[in-house]
Amino acid sequence: MTGIKPHGGELINRLVSAEQRDELLKHAASLKQIRVNSWTISDLDLIAVGAFSPLIGFLDEANYKTVVETMRLADGTVWSIPITLSIPPEVAASITLGEQVLLVGEEDGVAYAILETTSIYNVDHANEAVKVFKTNDMAHPGVDKLFSRSSTNIGGSIQMLSRPKPKKFEEFYFDPSETRRIFAEKGWKTVVGFQTRNPVHRAHEYIQKSAMEIVDALFLNPLVGETKSDDISADVRMKSYLVLLDNYYPEDRRFLGVYPAAMRYAGPREAILHAIVRRNYGCTHFIVGRDHAGVGDYYGTYEAQEIFSDFTADEIGIIPLFFEHSFFCTKCGNMASSKTCPHDKSHHMHLSGTKVRGLLRDGQCPPPEFTRPEVAQVLIEGLRDPDYQV
Ligand code: ADX
Repeated sequence: MTGIKPHGGELINRLVSAEQRDELLKHAASLKQIRVNSWTISDLDLIAVGAFSPLIGFLDEANYKTVVETMRLADGTVWSIPITLSIPPEVAASITLGEQVLLVGEEDGVAYAILETTSIYNVDHANEAVKVFKTNDMAHPGVDKLFSRSSTNIGGSIQMLSRPKPKKFEEFYFDPSETRRIFAEKGWKTVVGFQTRNPVHRAHEYIQKSAMEIVDALFLNPLVGETKSDDISADVRMKSYLVLLDNYYPEDRRFLGVYPAAMRYAGPREAILHAIVRRNYGCTHFIVGRDHAGVGDYYGTYEAQEIFSDFTADEIGIIPLFFEHSFFCTKCGNMASSKTCPHDKSHHMHLSGTKVRGLLRDGQCPPPEFTRPEVAQVLIEGLRDPDYQV
């Protein structure tokens, strides 16, 4: 065990045992059903396995309000993103407080969880958008998603009856209790978590390896839940991570496991959530680079780092490692940032995400100073092969 305490002090477990499950399924047959989409199912699973500790369910009204307004749960614990379940108002009208409802997958009909209703409330999306995303511009993918939902929320604790099944790369799904055990077995006392929704380019590799110089190991923890449509699919990325790790990272100092969450694109607030979740997975350190979890120009380059100063180190409980914008400098002949490179911008290699995707789609490798050739090859093949388009 890295020994790091989960956020809130205890790793939450809302999975039911096999015996309980049979009983609860019988009982569930009499409950009202609410249909839930894949986003909600992934939130449910993250709550159930303790990745979202100390949450035991979807936020009730009191907790929703303090999270939106103050980035804290009602008891003062830091929590930056509302984890909520919205339901159509007519469904809400048929449910009474204290009632148990069954959450059923809208596509597969699976009975995923029982929710014990403690709160039914209406929310102001415009206020939530401005507070959480710092904008109410519908062009922001998180804001768009928020406004597409009903503004009636249902809150309450959950009991998870069935877990979502990974479609691919099942062997890279680990619950926080498992990663904690594995890190301990490997004898790692310090582990740095790395969040990504992209292929690992040289700048990512540089900041990961800079961090690896001062900790025992890297936990590469790519987000594989819902992302916006022009992000590279999780399957293609997973292949690219494997080839990169095999070729360029020492086997006994790295670990790959997915973070099966949806991307919110909430920049600074999401950086806090990402750090807390990695603490729950057993990491002692967490990397926050340039424009972490950002999209477009909604957030300042280092806002996702600055937000950590709103809290004490004890309140966050995992050590954030901040990195400046990194690049390959042709004059230095290596990766660098403005902290280590004296040369002007004309020597710094810069390629936009759009430019890189364009090159890859045309079957061309970006320069090796930007992306390892083995990684570029996987991305090119992945973009060509429809099987990899999730
Ligand atoms: S994110 O939405 O998951 O944050 P991405 O996968 O691009 O996007 O970033 C993963 C991590 O690497 C984040 O902490 C981000 O800030 C950092 N990062 C990405 N590119 C750079 C860069 N060129 N220099 C420094 N940090 C970077």
